[in-house]
Amino acid sequence: MRHDSPTHLTMPKLLGALGLTILVSLTLAKDFLGSLPPQATDLSLSVGSIIENATQEGNSSGCQGYNLQTLQEDEAGLTAKLSLVGESCQAFGEDIVNLTVRVTYETATRLHVNIFDTSDEQYTIPQSVVQRPQQIKDAYRQSSDLVFNYESSPFSFWITRKAHPDATPLFDTRLKSMPPTPIPAVDSSDTYKNTTSLNNLSFVFEKQYLQLTSALPKDTNIYGLGEAVASSGFRRNLTSTVQAMWARDVADPVDENAYGSHPIYLEHRFDSATQTSQSHGVFLLSAAGGDILLRTPPSGNISVIQYRMIGGVLDFYFFSGPSPKAVIEQYGELIGMPTWQPIWGFGFHLCRWGYQNIAETREQVTSMRAANIPLEVMWNDIDLYHAVRDFTSDPVSFPGEEMRQFIRDLASSNQHYIPIVDAAIPKQVNASDLYDPYTKGVAKDVFIKNPDGTEYVGQVWPGYTVFPDWFQNNTQDWWTEALRNWSQAGIEFSGIWLDMNEASSFCDGSCGTDADISNTSVPFILPGEPGNFVTDYPECYNSTVSGPSGNITVNGTLTCHLDTAVSVSLNKRGLGAGKQEGVDLNTPQYAIHNGFGRLSNHALATNATHVDGQVELDTHNLWGLMEEKATHLALKSIQPGKRPFLISRSTFPSSGRWTGHWLGDNFSLWAYLRHSISGVLQFQIFQIPFVGADTCGFVGNTDEELCNRWMQLSAFTPFYRNHNIKGAIPQEPYRWDSVADASRKAIAVRYALLPYWYTLFALSSTSGTPPVRALFFEFPDEPELFDVDSQFLVGSDILVTPVLYPNSTTVQGYFPGHGNVTWRDWYTHEAAKPTSGQKLELQAPLSHINVDVRDGSAILLHAEPAYTIEETRQGPYSLLVSLDFAGKAQGNAYIDDGISNPPGPSRTLTFTASQNQLVINGNGSFSIQQRLQDIFILGVTQVASNFKLNGQAHNATYDATVQKLSFSNVNVDLNGDLTMTWA
Ligand code: GLC
Repeated sequence: MRHDSPTHLTMPKLLGALGLTILVSLTLAKDFLGSLPPQATDLSLSVGSIIENATQEGNSSGCQGYNLQTLQEDEAGLTAKLSLVGESCQAFGEDIVNLTVRVTYETATRLHVNIFDTSDEQYTIPQSVVQRPQQIKDAYRQSSDLVFNYESSPFSFWITRKAHPDATPLFDTRLKSMPPTPIPAVDSSDTYKNTTSLNNLSFVFEKQYLQLTSALPKDTNIYGLGEAVASSGFRRNLTSTVQAMWARDVADPVDENAYGSHPIYLEHRFDSATQTSQSHGVFLLSAAGGDILLRTPPSGNISVIQYRMIGGVLDFYFFSGPSPKAVIEQYGELIGMPTWQPIWGFGFHLCRWGYQNIAETREQVTSMRAANIPLEVMWNDIDLYHAVRDFTSDPVSFPGEEMRQFIRDLASSNQHYIPIVDAAIPKQVNASDLYDPYTKGVAKDVFIKNPDGTEYVGQVWPGYTVFPDWFQNNTQDWWTEALRNWSQAGIEFSGIWLDMNEASSFCDGSCGTDADISNTSVPFILPGEPGNFVTDYPECYNSTVSGPSGNITVNGTLTCHLDTAVSVSLNKRGLGAGKQEGVDLNTPQYAIHNGFGRLSNHALATNATHVDGQVELDTHNLWGLMEEKATHLALKSIQPGKRPFLISRSTFPSSGRWTGHWLGDNFSLWAYLRHSISGVLQFQIFQIPFVGADTCGFVGNTDEELCNRWMQLSAFTPFYRNHNIKGAIPQEPYRWDSVADASRKAIAVRYALLPYWYTLFALSSTSGTPPVRALFFEFPDEPELFDVDSQFLVGSDILVTPVLYPNSTTVQGYFPGHGNVTWRDWYTHEAAKPTSGQKLELQAPLSHINVDVRDGSAILLHAEPAYTIEETRQGPYSLLVSLDFAGKAQGNAYIDDGISNPPGPSRTLTFTASQNQLVINGNGSFSIQQRLQDIFILGVTQVASNFKLNGQAHNATYDATVQKLSFSNVNVDLNGDLTMTWA
């Protein structure tokens, strides 16, 4: 084992060449090296043994990384040139000899470190796809929170906080050599040859293999890196995470790659000595397939993160936080803020795969109304289509003119309609088969090709298909026209559901140009058809207890075994290609841990080619994002002045600018009810905050109790849709009385809170602040909250403590604030007993979800939640003020017309309470029609009297048991200011 003490490290040779300029970074580097903390010294001792080796053919023993050759400073940062030291690594192909490191202090809180091939041949993400700020006007080097430090030979770098130069670096690539160590395989299909370990190198930069490793404190907290259903929950496991980055059409597997790729993490460090914390973020802007590993050595005091990317460049952004919310905001500032949602999007959505005709679809709308369960948006799945083709409706089961009438009927009741759009466009099966989107697409040359220029053919629901090439200039117009024609033909949608856009294809790679296109079936049995009946039920379901419509175990004896986590391990992994017989040459040599094995499996082939020669291998992860942008722009053109509403499956950084997201094909299992919270939290980091799960579960049959709890929980997530697979038992909320009851109650709370939700989303679209929050986002210094994902906060003030297990009538939860915050029950206004770091047990009978309001808050509500969002908004407001220990509270509400794009006039109300006085101020030109009807002030500790509204005496009542002061029927105009006093 070689011990590289930091004192042996050489400073850049070119210091002299820099003239008189004293480099901040160099100076810091030197200072830092002089007092290198012990953790950093230990890195070299312990890392190698814990990163499992990758399949390796080459000999890496001569692989020594890069040396710094030149370095040039400028106002915004520096540019360094690196060159390969000694022999090439050839770890997984050809090394790139000359690299450039561009360091830019882009803002005071964002540091950009881009390591790229000097000849600029590696794939980089076009600005048109992910737009990031180009003009860095101010030089932030001096004012930056962060400092880039480096060593020149071999080149490595680390990022520190300027305020804490001696603290453990935020990111640290100085990992020193380890002797060759055979590393255990991650799974049985790994074939390790020549196990000279690659892990001894921090830094490899080859055409098809880029590796960078950074040290992490062993007790740190990492969140993000997705899209993933992680067995560890929202906080990632530091010992076993292998997060593959490859968009994948798969029913939400545990610990594997899924629909979207998001190489960003938020790290939260807690200092137990000072009991304080700081967060920062690290984002690798890369569309390449790859693995991101988190590993912790059995001995030693660090963990590591290792990036293994199969292309592109190492384009890193560091965000200084230091609060979790600030990290997320800073990420939004870079990739773009989330799109404005139309306000009706916050209503309840109902969908299923298997509404076979318009009558059945209408019936849902009628039944929901009959059960008085608010329904805002009715959806159709691919059943709508004729021959399962995009932009059609079946002439028999969903005739266009009848659909037009149906959708107009919905609109006349202030309800909406959303249809699905699949990614793939079916080929015409013969000359007499007219399918305009295909013929027009061919004429405009908008489809992806094979390397030889012929049409690339895949297979999806309609049979053989082609795929739009979003890089082609004509594609936008063609897509907009197809959507417009569809709408004009009767499908007068309010928004669009984008599916299968990883992009998914059922053939293994290309289906070939000679595929039998007259075959329009799929290569497997659809759910619900003979041979594939849906027979699964949730954990603990027992049909003998209360019949096949679904049982309820609450109050019964829970006898079933309940796994706390469903864990599916990787069962397949691609093998290194190119040098092994019988392996697809299109497979890059380093086989990422794609759950499907080879990259072309269940997706477009990696050699499918775009207009300017770009290949799927480089752009696969961008397909969904590009479709989202094109569809968003299409909707803007088709519905001018209105906010496009999109829900999409495959996402990439910046997707939130165009779309919301649902968490894909989950399972009707209690485990997935729990996973849904982590999923929603993860997408807050990813800046796609409008997100939700298929409520009551998609794959498998649900049951009454699970659906009851799920309808409750999802009422507190941004996107609220019940969706079900074909062939499963029906699960609309009216199907069971208890579920109907739970839904009505939870939806009433949701609609009462609509002004609050809407304000949170306005803040998200303007500042990137996450609307839904993990508890530690708000209470970052309370370590018992760092792995809590069984509760969450809506904004800063609404704490949700859902039931997540069957057969429960109680639930336990934290009430953060260490006893210094009073949480009051939403329904009763009773204060919870303050605690310090302990959980409380709450009553949670079926149909009841625990919701608590934080003190110090002032929340504008709709006083009369109604059947639709529009009717709710036409009713009056109420205001709920919850005083803190000092008798103070603060809040605001953003109000506009809820639909205009870009948002038109608005009014922001500010509520401030202190010293027995509440003041309401407003700002902005939007005229609020509805009046403020009631004001409730909680936490008024003394019997109050002498109530005044703008100086005039006014009636109020005081309830001493819950310390509540109620001003009813105040009938205040919210376009003016108001002062209310009590003494
Ligand atoms: C995919 C979608 C699912 C949809 C189904 C049929 O599996 O994820 O939501 O119901 O396709 O279109």
